[in-house]
Amino acid sequence: PPNISLANVKAHLTQFQTIATSNGGNRAHGRPGYLASANYVKAQLDAAGFQTVLQSFTYNGLTGYNVLADWPGGNPDDILMVGAHLDSVTAGPGINDNGSGSAAILETALEVSRQALQPTKHLRFAWWGAEELGLRGSQHYVTNLAATERAKIKAYLNFDMVGSPNAGYFLYDGDNSDGVGAGPGPAGSAQLEQVLQSYFTSIGVPTRGTDFDGRSDYGPFISRGIAAGGTFTGAEGIKSSAQAQLWGGTAGQAFDVCYHRACDTTSNINDTALDRNADAIAHAVWTISTATPPV
Ligand code: PHE
Ligand code: ZN
Ligand code: ZN
Ligand code: ZN
Repeated sequence: PPNISLANVKAHLTQFQTIATSNGGNRAHGRPGYLASANYVKAQLDAAGFQTVLQSFTYNGLTGYNVLADWPGGNPDDILMVGAHLDSVTAGPGINDNGSGSAAILETALEVSRQALQPTKHLRFAWWGAEELGLRGSQHYVTNLAATERAKIKAYLNFDMVGSPNAGYFLYDGDNSDGVGAGPGPAGSAQLEQVLQSYFTSIGVPTRGTDFDGRSDYGPFISRGIAAGGTFTGAEGIKSSAQAQLWGGTAGQAFDVCYHRACDTTSNINDTALDRNADAIAHAVWTISTATPPV
């Protein structure tokens, strides 16, 4: 799997910041900064040879959009989806939440194109609208898929907040290895966690589980029994002293002090965390999509 360029990921974040700044300071559902961000993502993917769709939906009387991008080829009955929400809250530009996941999967998709990857699975990337209002875009997508189309999606990887300034390294706990909380994900989720785990092990970074508590866009997928996984570097939760021992950073402080605030700007990014997570995404996409026999 390739190394994803941190500089390229950060260039996408700069674009998201510029779009927000010139559109009232955010990329929120129904606001002009959202559609401008969706158009930026779509244009990059179109130029790279993806088959893209701007899927619209209505929520709160306002139009929202998902960007869907299919990489031609692979088994159409065996789809790996990779997603991130592209909307922010109204309070700020949402660069960590979730410019970070959006930029990291965008750069991974562009690298798929540069390398002319020929996966055995079919690859589909998604940028979701209106996550901040209750997973509305991902819910719209999953609900409106015919059951036959839904059955072709064998796995979903979600990336929401992957550059938190006081970062932790969390993997969605597909196997419920900590034995507490929401329990395991659907069958296949433990294998997705293992693939992500193997990347962090290879770079010597310890990880911990985070529950499938329904707070991000994997929700509509796991509720239909689709295997899911992904990474997360923490939101409003407070880093414990044990976690600071494990990962560095500041104990007693939130993983992201600017969570849902105006200060979630390009300054609110931990470059090391963003770089490691982007590389983990590429590792997972390459490993899972090219596996023979398929996993
Ligand atoms: N989805 C939450 C938000 O966008 C953040 C979050 C992501 C929380 C992943 C928990 C796990 O505000
Ligand atoms: Zn949020
Ligand atoms: Zn989020
Ligand atoms: Zn686990």
